[in-house]
Amino acid sequence: MSFRSVFIALVIGFGLILAGVLVNRQRPAVEISQPTAAMVRASGKCAECHTSRQYSIVHEYELSAHAAKGISCLECHQPAEKQGKTDHHGFVIATKLTSANCRSCHETEYQQFARSRHAAPSWAAVHGEKGLPADMVAFSEKYHPGACRRPANALVSLEGGSAVITGCEKCHSVGKPNEDGSIGNCTACHTRHTSSVEIARLPTTCGQCHMGPDHSQLEIYSESKHGVMFAAQRDKLKLDVAPKKLTSRDMFVPTCATCHMSGLNGQKVSHDTSERLSYLLAAEISPKRPGYALAQANMKETCAQCHTTPVIERTYDEAEKAVASTNAKVQEAKEIYERLRTDKVISGPAFSHPVDFLYFDLWHYYGRTAKHGAFMGGQDFAQWHGNYPILQHTVELKAQAEELRRAHAKPE
Ligand code: HEC
Ligand code: HEC
Ligand code: HEC
Ligand code: HEC
Ligand code: HEC
Ligand code: HEC
Ligand code: HEC
Ligand code: HEC
Repeated sequence: MSFRSVFIALVIGFGLILAGVLVNRQRPAVEISQPTAAMVRASGKCAECHTSRQYSIVHEYELSAHAAKGISCLECHQPAEKQGKTDHHGFVIATKLTSANCRSCHETEYQQFARSRHAAPSWAAVHGEKGLPADMVAFSEKYHPGACRRPANALVSLEGGSAVITGCEKCHSVGKPNEDGSIGNCTACHTRHTSSVEIARLPTTCGQCHMGPDHSQLEIYSESKHGVMFAAQRDKLKLDVAPKKLTSRDMFVPTCATCHMSGLNGQKVSHDTSERLSYLLAAEISPKRPGYALAQANMKETCAQCHTTPVIERTYDEAEKAVASTNAKVQEAKEIYERLRTDKVISGPAFSHPVDFLYFDLWHYYGRTAKHGAFMGGQDFAQWHGNYPILQHTVELKAQAEELRRAHAKPE
């Protein structure tokens, strides 16, 4: 071989290597670290043992986008920063995983989630500020004033540890502060091994927590035209389309996720479920949120992917009047109830007198349900699970208040 051809070969060879390096630098870190032999072996080893023991877990993983992209078991199960390490059959793993194990590859979703009410406010609703790191409280208070800086809920000490662990925490731990400094978990909606957007878009997924008399969103949705159409046309909808490509041709009937998170037809997708909410409906007396106008514009833009302006404006007009009217009804009851305490007709801690429950149920069950029903198409909930029991409880509250005042006025 002549010197000339060797030289050309060397130049071409070096050029190819350089091109390879340059191309590789453009790829996300995730992709570069993918196909190493060690990682492939790792998943093989984990799966080998675990298929025979827990077929279900390995199978769910095999159905995931992660498996399709070659993300190994170990990439989730390796200890993230500040997590405990366990020696496990030749590997070092973390046995308790948190959102930190997803964050390494999904920072955008993590950040949106972290500023949502699914994060710190969820936990604070039960346990108050205690247990939340100060920086997390300060961060969340910027977005949701008063949602973290508050005392523990009175029911926590009244109902006791096991009630709180098997009840409140099962729903509210979606925003639990983790020992590694991260917040919450991502698996409440995505599951641990399918990591699926299809499952996250199902109403029943949100309904694990969003159901029951105090937040009957799943029941309201099931009754609504949207829920009925979803049940009828579920098999015609494409629930697994990638979020950035989702159009109203794939999802022509909305689920909870469509209205509260998805980016139909190029709209913004978000893990911050507060972005499209203009009222705080969960509150006793519902105030407008700080970003009222923008939030309402965001939600209406979602409706507009499927509806004309008159339908949207009519729905909002009716629902906003329902909020105002429910606020007025609750305000009237609240004054009757609170005067019993200021006039010392009743005393003692929260939830120690039957009348405490009467008033609590009035706003916490029926007030909320009337408002939620009005916004989300639940006519039976607006009426028979909402306004009717508000009326009934108001009459009963007035009668009890009179009775209590008579008994109180009587000399002993
Ligand atoms: C040689 C077999 C074997 C291999 C290889 C193996 N495991 Fe395991 N793993 C087990 C057994 C056995 C258990 C305990 C099962 C039980 O409690 O029933 C277990 C338990 C676990 C647990 C639950 C631990 C806990 O305390 O909560 C996790 C998570 C886990 N394995 C993940 C992995 C991952 C990830 C890999 C690969 C990096 C892996 N395993 C490799 C056999 C294995
Ligand atoms: C997308 C991230 C992810 C991947 C990939 C992943 N896991 Fe997991 N795995 C989790 C999470 C999250 C948990 C829940 C841990 C906890 O309870 O804190 C978990 C729990 C487990 C458990 C205990 C579950 C139980 O119900 O007893 C086992 C065993 C396990 N994984 C094995 C595997 C194996 C084997 C693979 C690969 C075939 C794998 N995992 C891939 C995230 C993942
Ligand atoms: C090592 C990096 C890595 C880790 C760790 C990781 N993911 Fe992923 N995830 C990916 C990649 C890569 C994709 C595929 C993206 C694509 O197809 O464009 C993906 C896709 C997804 C999707 C979309 C799936 C779909 O059906 O389109 C979800 C949801 C998801 N991940 C959730 C999680 C959750 C939850 C965790 C933690 C329990 C996690 N991921 C951990 C890299 C990771
Ligand atoms: C079935 C799941 C579930 C259980 C169990 C549960 N919650 Fe909730 N909670 C929710 C959901 C979902 C919301 C959001 C409702 C809304 O915005 O309409 C909520 C809202 C709240 C709120 C109002 C929001 C806020 O930040 O002020 C408080 C307070 C609260 N929960 C406290 C508790 C306490 C205390 C317990 C136990 C005694 C408990 N919850 C049990 C799911 C649950
Ligand atoms: C593991 C339980 C759980 C699941 C699953 C869940 N949520 Fe929530 N969600 C909560 C809790 C708890 C709150 C109340 C947080 C607070 O304000 O204290 C909440 C609050 C909300 C809010 C009100 C936010 C605000 O700013 O007031 C919306 C909207 C919401 N969730 C939508 C969804 C949707 C959509 C899904 C399904 C894709 C879903 N949630 C799944 C527990 C859950
Ligand atoms: C309240 C339920 C809920 C929680 C909690 C949640 N997700 Fe999601 N996630 C969804 C829904 C719904 C979608 C699909 C949105 C849509 O319809 O386009 C999604 C989509 C995704 C995607 C696909 C994004 C894309 O553009 O391809 C990733 C990745 C993801 N989530 C990661 C996470 C991570 C990481 C966390 C925890 C920090 C998390 N999710 C927590 C409901 C949730
Ligand atoms: C057709 C769109 C649509 C669907 C579908 C939908 N919602 Fe809503 N949701 C709304 C609107 C509109 C509001 C009130 C917005 C406002 O305050 O401006 C709302 C309010 C809420 C709130 C109230 C938060 C608070 O306390 O202020 C929660 C929680 C919620 N929805 C959860 C769900 C869940 C869970 C599902 C599915 C079971 C669901 N939504 C289905 C449109 C929808
Ligand atoms: C992804 C598409 C989609 C989105 C987004 C959507 N809807 Fe709908 N909506 C439908 C479909 C489909 C029907 C049933 C239409 C029919 O009967 O022809 C429906 C029915 C309705 C109805 C009942 C009409 C009637 O008289 O029976 C109302 C009211 C409504 N939607 C309001 C809203 C509002 C308000 C929003 C936003 C908060 C919204 N929708 C978001 C698809 C959507």
